[in-house]
Amino acid sequence: MDLHIEEVNRLFKERYQSKPIIVVSPGRINLIGEHTDYNEGFVLPAAIDKAILVAIQKRDDNKVCLYAMEYGEEHNLTLDKVEKTTMHWPGYILGIVDQLQKRGFPLQGFNLILGGNVPIGAGVSSSAAVECATVFALNELFGFGISKLDMVKIAQKAEHDFAGVMCGIMDQFASMFGQENKVISLDCRSLEYEYFPIEMTGLKIVLLDTNVKHSLASTEYNVRRQQCERGVAMMQQKYPAVKSLRDATIEMLDECVKTEPLIYKRCKYVIEENIRLQKACKYLAAGDIKNFGKKMFEAHDAISKEYEVSCKELDYLVDQVREDDAVLGARMMGGGFGGCTINLVKEEAIPALVKRLSGIYKEAMGLDLKHYVIAIKDGTHRVQ
Ligand code: GLA
Repeated sequence: MDLHIEEVNRLFKERYQSKPIIVVSPGRINLIGEHTDYNEGFVLPAAIDKAILVAIQKRDDNKVCLYAMEYGEEHNLTLDKVEKTTMHWPGYILGIVDQLQKRGFPLQGFNLILGGNVPIGAGVSSSAAVECATVFALNELFGFGISKLDMVKIAQKAEHDFAGVMCGIMDQFASMFGQENKVISLDCRSLEYEYFPIEMTGLKIVLLDTNVKHSLASTEYNVRRQQCERGVAMMQQKYPAVKSLRDATIEMLDECVKTEPLIYKRCKYVIEENIRLQKACKYLAAGDIKNFGKKMFEAHDAISKEYEVSCKELDYLVDQVREDDAVLGARMMGGGFGGCTINLVKEEAIPALVKRLSGIYKEAMGLDLKHYVIAIKDGTHRVQ
């Protein structure tokens, strides 16, 4: 992964006359288990070979000077005035600063350069990667001794407060805890996790990027979360032990939520997605990628029809690979309303697949298709 460390060092020296600490934090994929994390369910993510980079060094005053290489933009402030800005990217960094301040960590001023190669808006969670890189870098710089799990929680809260997305814990967890060539089987209730080696001889994970990010994404995300909570509240009246959809069954849903068809559909999807993931994990453990792939297609249909967070571009890309022998499984990935589909593809067939899809996608949607062949890598770490 080419992160241009030398260029970052040169730029840092030029702007701030010092040598920085450098931390990288990857984007993530998720094989199956979508919109289950905030319902205390299961997910199966991994960190990828595209990462955000944060270069950082202390200052003698209480200023915070930020520079984003991607945009060629800077944003400066003082530590007594950490507020949201109209610019997008500083929010993820300042959200972390705000969380650290609220928890009483003694920050001083710092200079920070943001770089890296995670595609923005592609649904691989560049925002979580920025948050994790920032909290890790500040922890290194000031020696706060914060544990990795607490850093994950700080990063998630930063997203809630500064980006306004009431996300679950998956993205930040995967970015921080990723391990090369392994997926993470994470229980989002207990936060117990296990690394799963994935053996996919002859296959690659290919992300097909719709190149759209519909503006609905963050508002609808929060609406889904509320709909799930509403379903839980309805079931709780009869079954007080139901604390989240993790505890619910289809029988309980039938009994308590039938009167509200929309809420019913949303909850049904989540309950079944957890079951689907567990079956899929068994296939993965047995090396049965074919059946694992089938579960991915099933998951897509359910999230599209019942949870309704897909969009025509994502559905189109999944539909176009259903009958393709080179593709074992495909589904939309992440929050939805744009971003990528994740595909398990026979390696030798990738160029032809991409060629075929690029042509028809352009014709059908008027958009260019991007693609990324992904490798699974280590989570957040210091490189300098
Ligand atoms: C976004 C959120 C995650 C998760 C996914 C959907 O990526 O940040 O917490 O809910 O959507 O699975």
